[in-house]
Amino acid sequence: MALSDFDLVFFGGSGDLAMRKLLPAMYSRDVCNDLPDTARIICVGREEATQEEFLNMVETNSKQHIKEAPAEESWQRFLKRIVYVSLNATDLKTYGPLVEALRKDESLTRVYYLATPPHLFATICDNLAATSLVSPNSRVVLEKPLGRDLASAKQINLDVGKVFAESQIYRIDHYLGKETVQNLLALRFGNILFEPLWRREWISDVQITIAEKIGVGNRLGYYDTSGALRDMLQNHLLQLLCIVAMEPPTSISPDAVRDAKLQVLRSLKRFTPTTLSQNIVRGQYRGGYVDGQAVPGYRDEPEAPKGSKTETFVAVKAEIDTWRWAGVPFYLRTGKRMADRLAEIVVRFKPIPHSIFNQPTSSFQPNSLVIRLQPDEGLSMNLMAKTPGDSMRLKQAELELDFREQFKSPRMEAYERLLVDVLRGQLTLFMRGDELEAAWEWVEPILEHWEQDDSTPVPYTSGTWGPAASSALIGRDGLQWREEVLPED
Ligand code: BG6
Repeated sequence: MALSDFDLVFFGGSGDLAMRKLLPAMYSRDVCNDLPDTARIICVGREEATQEEFLNMVETNSKQHIKEAPAEESWQRFLKRIVYVSLNATDLKTYGPLVEALRKDESLTRVYYLATPPHLFATICDNLAATSLVSPNSRVVLEKPLGRDLASAKQINLDVGKVFAESQIYRIDHYLGKETVQNLLALRFGNILFEPLWRREWISDVQITIAEKIGVGNRLGYYDTSGALRDMLQNHLLQLLCIVAMEPPTSISPDAVRDAKLQVLRSLKRFTPTTLSQNIVRGQYRGGYVDGQAVPGYRDEPEAPKGSKTETFVAVKAEIDTWRWAGVPFYLRTGKRMADRLAEIVVRFKPIPHSIFNQPTSSFQPNSLVIRLQPDEGLSMNLMAKTPGDSMRLKQAELELDFREQFKSPRMEAYERLLVDVLRGQLTLFMRGDELEAAWEWVEPILEHWEQDDSTPVPYTSGTWGPAASSALIGRDGLQWREEVLPED
């Protein structure tokens, strides 16, 4: 759908995210003819560079991240939209060129995307206000990390809230932009089939995994002060948990969906120091092999601080204290340098109560629904079915729904989808301030405990599914991670 005219400003416009994700996402919309001719993208960076030098940078650093090599004509058309502005975000006196670059029409949608470290959010917002660049049609997008604990997240909300109303603030969690996550909403609330079963009476446990093969690469500076808990669990994993566990919202409107997610976050059982050590595993990768390639351990990565205690893996058993979910464990885990790249949600149903066949109930695999976000989007349902032949022998069969096969229309990358939503003023897929704080509130005791604790993350070999303690975490409940369940003969 074509968008109305806009000026889109990327702070951190010469940075990695802008080059890898944001500019390619906007190119994709442009090539679909969704952008008005006059729409512009203003990239703001610290570096002194001429317009020409910056466009050369885009050519070298960004073009390669576009899925299908752009045709010269459409690429040139796209480049014409880009304006480079060099300024020092913390120095009000340097904002002149940005004021100049923006069109004066206040009815125009203006979006400020802050792809900068969070300590700059407050100053940038203040400086935008001081230069009269904020109008009721302005929006601000906040890129993660949105704080590093509850206090800093609250501070961000407070600072940004002084300049922008909540309805103008778009807090990005790119996992919400993924097609399958939205499909989960469709699955749950667009069908009658699952909702009656979507509760403690029928569901035994839920596993949510985001596994990556990559290590920390050149992001060590950031990652070492963050770790898997802050980098992935506090945001992406908790957002996925919210979508799985939330009550049916009254509509798909932003506040209805966000109220429902907030209720989940507020119902998460709080950890105490005792329950915490039983229900959380943190790990750190050691050297090993990923895809047959030798890879170094975390502490051997260039610039890794000696003896770093930063976790690159975390597994948590969470519980939701509500009538719907009491007693159902939600196992969440994420890690770098794992055996595979995969993001999936596994909803496992309870076993059948009695077997009428000549097979013990224990030979019946409980039904499960697997919602796959990555690498290929899809959904599969595991059912018991009769094997062909003259005996009544049942075996697990997989019913596969491949969304790519089913709907052939081209996919939007998460960032592309979310940028379009910002430009359209559609807030449903963005976190509200109170949601952000509720997520940090739950995570806070874990952070505090780790800070005071002398123990270090348990090592795991790169290219595996994490430390053995992670299998033990789920194994204590008589369960296994999905990859540990051996296929039947
Ligand atoms: C980011 C994290 O938010 O998500 C990264 O900061 C991580 O550490 C990335 O690699 C994973 O995103 P995706 O979409 O590749 O699964």
